[in-house]
Amino acid sequence: MKAAVVVEPTKIEIQDIEVPKIKANEVLIKVKTVGVCGSDLHLFKGTHAFRKPPAILGHEIAGEVVEVGPDVTKFRIGDRVTVEPHIGCGECEFCEKDLLNLCTGKKAPGVPGWIGTFSEYFNAPEDIVYKIADDISYEIGTLVEPLAVGIHAIERITVPEKDTIAILGSGTIGLLTLVAAREAGYKNIICTDTQPFNLEMAKKQGAILALNPIEDDVEAKIKEFTNGRGVDVAIVAADAPGIIDQASSIVRKRGEVGIVAMITKQIPVDTYSFVFNEISLFGAMTYETKDFEKANQLVNEGLDLSDFITQRVPLEESQKALDILNEKKENVVKVIVEVDK
Ligand SMILES: NC(=O)c1ccc[n+]([C@@H]2O[C@H](COP(=O)([O-])OP(=O)(O)OC[C@H]3O[C@@H](n4cnc5c(N)ncnc54)[C@H](O)[C@@H]3O)[C@@H](O)[C@H]2O)c1
Ligand SMILES: [Zn+2]
Ligand SMILES: [Zn+2]
Repeated sequence: MKAAVVVEPTKIEIQDIEVPKIKANEVLIKVKTVGVCGSDLHLFKGTHAFRKPPAILGHEIAGEVVEVGPDVTKFRIGDRVTVEPHIGCGECEFCEKDLLNLCTGKKAPGVPGWIGTFSEYFNAPEDIVYKIADDISYEIGTLVEPLAVGIHAIERITVPEKDTIAILGSGTIGLLTLVAAREAGYKNIICTDTQPFNLEMAKKQGAILALNPIEDDVEAKIKEFTNGRGVDVAIVAADAPGIIDQASSIVRKRGEVGIVAMITKQIPVDTYSFVFNEISLFGAMTYETKDFEKANQLVNEGLDLSDFITQRVPLEESQKALDILNEKKENVVKVIVEVDK
């Protein structure tokens, strides 16, 4: 079968590899569509923490079950599915609490022992496989995974008021966090981005204010909107210098700042504003199973995410898919790779 392999930084080759053999508790999925994610871009550029070239891209997937292991009980051949792409060690305190996202020994696609999803076939244990409803397209099914990231970021909030939230950065993750906030009942959602296209999309998805930090005084506009009080929560979904300080400057006293962006280099932070205003800070790492279930449910109920898919390319052109995201010469939110149309 064909698979898209990053052979060296920024270079992808389509290689012929063996179809994975399934274990007794696994299903084999004929891959239909996969999504390109920020972490694929890190692998592509050679900057990912643990996925290093050569490696197969991808962890976002939708496809059809074509084989089931003898111990599989929930799925049959022909089922349309997506996958929560991590396998916990099964033994640590976090696995015991269903917090696979925090398991240090977890396995993810594209690491030795499990292939990436940019392949014609993909294997997964049935307990991390989820059905996609018959009337939902495969490409929308592929968005369950990044939506789960947004849902988890919102679920991590402990401030009870759902009045005003700011989301800094309106790329795929910021926009899907906006969707999650909207679905969770936040009344006023304020988004920022440096790209007019992304700001338009945020407004279309329900943002009451969409601010561009290059042109707007974000702090002043948010203070004005909230009568000087500040937002209850700010979620950081972009990696930019000074963005944590911007978040703490717009949050109300005893509010919260959540970081979903992977800011891998150390940046200076004004800790005093956290102390002075008693602001709490949290991180949000991928998702818990309950978040993935919620995302899957929302998508199966018909949540319209179609606007977020801005480009589609065939598997053979995976290089182009990554180049689009890397170079950002065109308006882009989610690039879908069509493995089997
Ligand atoms: N925590 C997790 O589990 C998790 C999962 C997936 C992605 N991520 C991370 O989340 C972040 C966002 O991912 P993405 O896929 O949406 O990336 P993206 O590149 O699509 O989005 C980032 C957006 O931020 C905007 N931006 C740049 N500078 C800005 C600024 N100063 N203020 C506001 N916006 C600005 C960009 O224009 C872009 O639209 C990345 O750091 C990614 O690694 C985290
Ligand atoms: Zn992803
Ligand atoms: Zn574990």
